Amino acid sequence: MRQTGIVGVVRCPVLVGRRAEIQALESALAGMLAGQGGCAVITGEAGIGKSRLMRELARMAAGRQVPVVMGRAVPSSASAPYRPVTEVLLRLLRGRPLPDDPSLAPWLRHLAVLLPGAAAGSPAARLSQAVDSQVVRGEAVLRLLRRMAPDGLVVALEDLHWADPDTVSLVEYLADNAVGQPVLFACSLRTEPPSPASDLARRQRGRTGIVHLPLGRLSEREVAEMIAACSLGGDADEHSRVRRVSEGVPLFVEELLASSGIPETISDTVRERLAEFPDDERAVLETAAVMGRHFDWEILPAASGQAPEVVSRALAWAVDRVLVTADGAGFQFRHALTREAVLMSALPPRLRRAAATALAAVDAAHPDLEGRWRDVAADLAARSGDRARAGRLLRDSGRYSLEIGALAPAVETLRRAADLLEGSPERAGAELILIEALALAGRVDETAAAGTRLIARLGDDPASIQARIEAHLRLAQAAVSASRWPMACHHIDMAVRLTAAQTDPNLSARAAVLSAEVALAGDDLDGARHTAERVAAMDGAGPDVRCHALEIIGRSRRLHDLPAAAAAFEAALATAELAGLPVWRLRALHELGTVDMFERLDVDRLLEARRLGEQMGALSTVAVLDLQLSASFIGRWDLERCDAHAGSALELAGQLRLDQVAAKAVSMMTGSASMRADVQATEQLAARTLAADPADPVFPGYCRACVGMVLLMAGEGAAALLPFAEGTAAMSRIPNAEPISIRALWPLIQAARGDRRAAATLEEVRRLGVDAFYVNRGLMAFGQAVLEGRAGRPGRADAIVAGLATAFANCETWADLARFIAAPRALADGWGEPVRWLTAAPGPVHQPGTRPAGRALRGAAQGCLPQPVGGRGGDRPGGRRAPPGHQRPGQQGDRSRLAPVAEDSREARREPAAQDRGAFPHRAGRLFRPPHYVGAVRRYLLSPMRPVGRAAHPHPRAPETSRDRGKGDSCWSPRTRPRRTTSATSSTARSAWSISPGSPWAAPTSGPAGGGPPTSNRW
Ligand SMILES: Nc1ncnc2c1ncn2[C@@H]1O[C@H](COP(=O)(O)OP(=O)(O)OP(=O)(O)O)[C@@H](O)[C@H]1O
Ligand SMILES: [Mg+2]
Repeated sequence: MRQTGIVGVVRCPVLVGRRAEIQALESALAGMLAGQGGCAVITGEAGIGKSRLMRELARMAAGRQVPVVMGRAVPSSASAPYRPVTEVLLRLLRGRPLPDDPSLAPWLRHLAVLLPGAAAGSPAARLSQAVDSQVVRGEAVLRLLRRMAPDGLVVALEDLHWADPDTVSLVEYLADNAVGQPVLFACSLRTEPPSPASDLARRQRGRTGIVHLPLGRLSEREVAEMIAACSLGGDADEHSRVRRVSEGVPLFVEELLASSGIPETISDTVRERLAEFPDDERAVLETAAVMGRHFDWEILPAASGQAPEVVSRALAWAVDRVLVTADGAGFQFRHALTREAVLMSALPPRLRRAAATALAAVDAAHPDLEGRWRDVAADLAARSGDRARAGRLLRDSGRYSLEIGALAPAVETLRRAADLLEGSPERAGAELILIEALALAGRVDETAAAGTRLIARLGDDPASIQARIEAHLRLAQAAVSASRWPMACHHIDMAVRLTAAQTDPNLSARAAVLSAEVALAGDDLDGARHTAERVAAMDGAGPDVRCHALEIIGRSRRLHDLPAAAAAFEAALATAELAGLPVWRLRALHELGTVDMFERLDVDRLLEARRLGEQMGALSTVAVLDLQLSASFIGRWDLERCDAHAGSALELAGQLRLDQVAAKAVSMMTGSASMRADVQATEQLAARTLAADPADPVFPGYCRACVGMVLLMAGEGAAALLPFAEGTAAMSRIPNAEPISIRALWPLIQAARGDRRAAATLEEVRRLGVDAFYVNRGLMAFGQAVLEGRAGRPGRADAIVAGLATAFANCETWADLARFIAAPRALADGWGEPVRWLTAAPGPVHQPGTRPAGRALRGAAQGCLPQPVGGRGGDRPGGRRAPPGHQRPGQQGDRSRLAPVAEDSREARREPAAQDRGAFPHRAGRLFRPPHYVGAVRRYLLSPMRPVGRAAHPHPRAPETSRDRGKGDSCWSPRTRPRRTTSATSSTARSAWSISPGSPWAAPTSGPAGGGPPTSNRW
């Protein structure tokens, strides 16, 4: 036992008991050093030994040369968000700069919220709080920790029972994501009374990487052991008293041993010790207590009105009497209970006076009340009875928390502020901020309740009209964000009614732009646009409202008039740039990028928006932009970059818990794998897509269509037909399903196969707006050309194809695919340049890195060939061949040259090389040089053809059975595999083609009347 003075400092020199806990910490530490981090959660009542166990962990870590860094929550942390984590970061960065690491750069914005002096309140920070939440901050912290201590780190987070809900959710993310990282978190918290942290501790049970260490009271034997360890001898009676009174709480054991009197509780002990203080010194300690558990000793002379030497003496006494501890950084009450006991021991008038003096001192020393001083001042103002000042300070504190995205502390603080401001005209202002915080937190019902209460209280007083309008507008905005349209309408109406008597045009503009949002949500595109146009033209509308209006104009036009939409988004961009509104600038760039994608697959603006989003730390927007980019690159058949952006979206979505974005990213990879003809990857990715978001109505059809695509590209054209048909039909039934190019490809394939339903399918995809995407317009035009050729109008087919000169800009590979598919029909029906299409290798085939596309094209060409069934005759209705008038002498597809080949298929099959050479003397060398597709070309050229329409052409596969149909949730049911079929089954083949009820040639069961392309967020 170490003793100083009358009342000794007792600290047990050995750790008593807790063997299981030590063992658990040892293995957690070892796991962390092996790269398997995690979190140890130490719980128990006050004084039970949580911090002591933390110290043991620090000692063990030091033995293994692992750095330990600590942060703690304090009781005032309800209005001091993220304090423990901030402390950890500050300690880590003490004397070290932030690492200069580009991969860390996008994350540092989010650290700004956690670090003092951050760019809090900046538009970027506001955006990131709106879109990113604690998850981003958690990820930012993890990345920084890993960067700063790559070889292992222990982060001790103490006293989390005082942490605000936002800090707790941040800690939850850290704890959950430490697995697989070289960092071990150790959290301590009291479980009583219940707190957000104790809820978390309960929730965390059983999670991977979380070790629970609930500390119980020491047994009698352990208490005796502790007393023996602390005492150098001693009185048996006193020991027995300590054993009895301590009730197994180690803190009480020490406190009781240190006390010379006979205290029965800590507060008694404290009161007893305080009584030994002279009046002045006691006043110093009381002032310290009103300032918080951790107090600023430098301000104490002014705050207590005592001379510095009195303050020094008081602190020395307090330390001596185990009420206060001193460390390198300053002083703090030894225990929260100790501070509370000090406060309890003083009479209220005395405390009130102390608080008033302390507040004056704080004001003098920190006139701007920067950092934590505003919270200290608010607390002191409340204790000193200045409710209005406390309310104002808490309102400012709440506004600050709102700006940095600490929504839960903001709500709590603003509620307290509103209570304190009761009877003051400033109360409405605090409540308006409270409504905004509740709305941003997504607590719509509470928002509505708070708003309604405020509006009711304000009554009809003309002086309050501004506040009432503001309340209605904020409630309407909250309702719009939550898609609560009736609520939005009600508050917009009220705001409009009130603004009639107002002169501020910005208020009317805000109401109008919100009503335009409501109209847009109700598919009233014209109404939305007209309102938004009116707002955009209003003189007094603020630039943010104008940007919002222009964006709505663009969104309402995008479905039918892309150039007009682009013009509106351009105007929004210019407005945002002029007014310096980065959030609106990003939104405008994003929308413009989407227009570019649909118009010509330009990616520049999407890439710029992505860069900007990254710069601003708007990581969830970056994730969505990655999705858009992956969609663009899939359109460009640049599958490597498609996969790279989808991978990036997936990674960000995983970190930010954006489940829908993650599912979309996997779906992009599925599409890309299918276009690469990678059957196995398509199969796996399609299954992952379906599992990632089983509720998405588009995915089943989309994945099934991808199965069709991969089979087609792999050269299994016949097997591809059913999944193609089913997948595209399912997508047609979903309103605003993505206009993926597979949907536009399907009618072309049908037409090329001679399927008579092709025209109906083409008409349907047109009606559903699949042609909003320009690539699809090209594919559909090829489909139309095939139909024209089949109908005996090769001239029209030629005209259509001639008009496609620039239709496939930026996406030539799609054109190659379309030509490969259409070539056999073009050859048979006498239009186009089928031989050149088939033999002249498409550009991308010979470019390094795009060979897979070329191979896949050749596979597709094989798959799409009309079925060779023997016999002669054309495949157009009536079996006519192409009219001689449409053969252009000298043209590569010259039918006069081809005729001998097509006439005698048997001979040709026997001696293909000779026949081919005979048919294409001038191209023979070229024809045979790339051996991959010679099979496709030869089989096509040498096979007689016949119509493959529904009635005339039995499907080669077994009919769909009712059992098969039951497997509709899988995109890769065994049905999609090519099967051998018997004549018995082929007689019922027709039913296999009838994919009812939603087949492409049947009317869709549901679907938008004149359905358009999807809104950008579907991509
Ligand atoms: N197992 C133990 N063996 C010896 N001494 C202990 C043991 N557990 C705790 N102590 C001592 O008891 C005192 C109180 O413990 P500690 O501060 O760790 O409690 P705590 O649970 O962290 O309390 P609080 O919740 O208030 O932070 C400390 O001085 C500590 O050294
Ligand atoms: Mg503790």
